[in-house]
Amino acid sequence: MNWTKVLAASELPDGARKVVKVDGTKVLLLNHEGTIHAVANACPHLNLPMKKGKIDENGALVCPFHRTAFDLCSGKPSNWTPFPPVVGPMMGSLGAQKDLPVFSAKTEGGEIWVEA
Ligand code: FES
Repeated sequence: MNWTKVLAASELPDGARKVVKVDGTKVLLLNHEGTIHAVANACPHLNLPMKKGKIDENGALVCPFHRTAFDLCSGKPSNWTPFPPVVGPMMGSLGAQKDLPVFSAKTEGGEIWVEA
């Protein structure tokens, strides 16, 4: 695991998100209420992009496709593939639930660093 400088901190103000590549992996950076989170930009259900996912009232990132909510710190899913009703849960039951990969992130010297 190596730390990689990915972005100037000024490029990710509160509420912003950006996708960067770290060692060939697309990483979604989010500044949520002043905390920088770094997660895979691919939902572990069907590898679809997470960038447009909303953050719910529990601080979880919700996949924009089948609405699995992933804890931003642990990547643990809750309510696996609930959408659309009936079809989503059926699709979700075909495979094992998986965590959204999360990466360590830090701000140092005015830059954002990700460990991957
Ligand atoms: S692609 Fe994300 S929950 Fe299905």
